[in-house]
Amino acid sequence: MSKPVIDLITNTNIPTTPPIWLMRQAGRYLPEYRDTRAIAGGFLDLCYNPKLAEEVTLQPIRRYGFDAAIVFADILLIPQAMGQKLWFETGEGPRLDPISSGSSLSLARTRAHLAPICETLSRLTTSLPSETTLIGFAGAPWTVATYMVAGRGTPDQAPARHLADTNPDAFQEIIDMLVEATITYLADQIAAGADMIQIFESWAASLRGADFERWCVQPVKAIIAGLRDKGLTTPVIGFPRGAHGGLGAYASTVGCDVLALDTDVDRQAVRDECGADVVLQGNLDPQILVAGGAALDAAVDAILDDFKDQRFIFNLGHGIVPQTPPEHVAQLVARIRGQN
Ligand code: CP3
Repeated sequence: MSKPVIDLITNTNIPTTPPIWLMRQAGRYLPEYRDTRAIAGGFLDLCYNPKLAEEVTLQPIRRYGFDAAIVFADILLIPQAMGQKLWFETGEGPRLDPISSGSSLSLARTRAHLAPICETLSRLTTSLPSETTLIGFAGAPWTVATYMVAGRGTPDQAPARHLADTNPDAFQEIIDMLVEATITYLADQIAAGADMIQIFESWAASLRGADFERWCVQPVKAIIAGLRDKGLTTPVIGFPRGAHGGLGAYASTVGCDVLALDTDVDRQAVRDECGADVVLQGNLDPQILVAGGAALDAAVDAILDDFKDQRFIFNLGHGIVPQTPPEHVAQLVARIRGQN
């Protein structure tokens, strides 16, 4: 059977109903996710347990029949695979032992370390409905490096920016290692069965001009080129969250097939800027999904109207938040599919 998401990318026709999936569709807003995570022991145990990671990837597909499933994992597994200590503080988020160069990192064991994620993907190729697109992913090097250098999430990415400004060679070394590890990891995900790849650049907003070009654009361009050099034509979704202007140029320079838009993007401006060649994805505000009701219906209708003449994948502008009522996700899907 054909897959609506892949058909949209490979054909030029515009379907009457756009395909839909949601960033962070597997997660804490679902009671069945919280149950499975408790069985696994913790978040990282869940990521490295192919059977349970497969289960949580399938949970939102069973509930809502999304057109795509994203493999359950995290963008910070790559630094861990390179030898950096990683743990999650409950209620606070990720913690890593901070680094200021690549000297403590190694690429020798990344494939073996990340093999369980590829096993999750390969299990999903048989358990997912045949029409559901299977998405693999990685973080973009800049975004991943912001956590590696600071040792945690930061509001302004100041530690990574400081290292890039004061010791660009050391920072470049970290970025280059991430590029190489990410090409290998994504190629392995594709070999295991991923139909499509998303590259998350969650912290694009902290860089401008030449810094944005050097640390955001060039590394993602190198990753996509690395995949193409291996003969892999798998579609890639770029997501430069918070990038200021120039989204059309970003998409054409990095060479992504789909451009994911964050909540703050001006949809009409980006549609005019990108033209018909790029498939767009996005950009419902996750907070409107928390609100539900008439506000949700109106926001969905506005997006459908803005993109009615455009090849488009419905998604959020950032990940689902844990306080989202699951029934609001059902309302969203029904609205898009014209059932309410
Ligand atoms: O359903 C899916 O989208 C697939 C799985 C997925 C997770 N993280 C699971 C997760 C994906 C694609 C990610 C990407 C990710 N991880 C990003 C990029 C996207 C974004 O949100 O900007 C980033 C920056 C991370 C790093 C990360 N992981 C942070 C900052 C946190 C803590 C914040 C939080 O939401 O708790 C995580 C933890 C995390 N990753 C959870 C999940 C389901 C929550 C962990 C839990 O169950 O307690």
